Amino acid sequence: MKMDSRLILALDETDVPKALHVLDEVCGIIDAVKINWPLILSAGPEIITTLSQKADVICDFKIADIPNTDRLIIEQSVKRGASGVIVHAFTGTDSLKECVSAAGGRDVFVVTEMSHPGGQEFTAKHAEEFAAMAAECGASGLIAPATRPERIKKIKESAPGLLILSPGVGAQGGSASNAVLNGADYVIVGRSIYGSSDPKDAAQKLADEIKALRF
Ligand code: C5P
Repeated sequence: MKMDSRLILALDETDVPKALHVLDEVCGIIDAVKINWPLILSAGPEIITTLSQKADVICDFKIADIPNTDRLIIEQSVKRGASGVIVHAFTGTDSLKECVSAAGGRDVFVVTEMSHPGGQEFTAKHAEEFAAMAAECGASGLIAPATRPERIKKIKESAPGLLILSPGVGAQGGSASNAVLNGADYVIVGRSIYGSSDPKDAAQKLADEIKALRF
């Protein structure tokens, strides 16, 4: 995945023509597009291939199963054009190792602490352990909450060298600058871009905000 604007679009728009229009508007700005069940269920899995012709696609299926099922899901995602997948860690080391193996060099990003308030009830208690396990299993990176930027720093300390992707910017209350200043390598933004009346302008403003931090 390129590291240019450090912005990843979460394309949870379920109106398929609108989703495609939004991606066309912003694909020159973003580094990748993340898709989740809402768009897959609306458009069908072919959407992975369609989008992969325009941008790197991260399939956010939050995979959390036995190793064999994890492998089957990841193989199908990769076959359709995914360049990365998002998986849970609570299923344990064997599942996570199988995910990395099945991805065959594509990126595997591991959820540490969920960004919504409920993320503090269970995931936050194990986030650092999840991060260390992700590093041990050969994952590319971690998902850490832009809604609690101080947690990004802590999680990063548990797995130095792994990329940090942070959702929760905008609609969930987090700030792109705070996330990046606390260690996020990329921010993931959904509704603030695809729900905007001018998605291109919204994406460009976020990209400019990140660029102004001067890497
Ligand atoms: O619309 P919004 O910017 O809140 O979208 C955030 C995206 O990131 C959604 O697709 C959501 O499922 C995902 N996500 C998240 N928090 C996590 C992991 C993934 O918000 N911890």
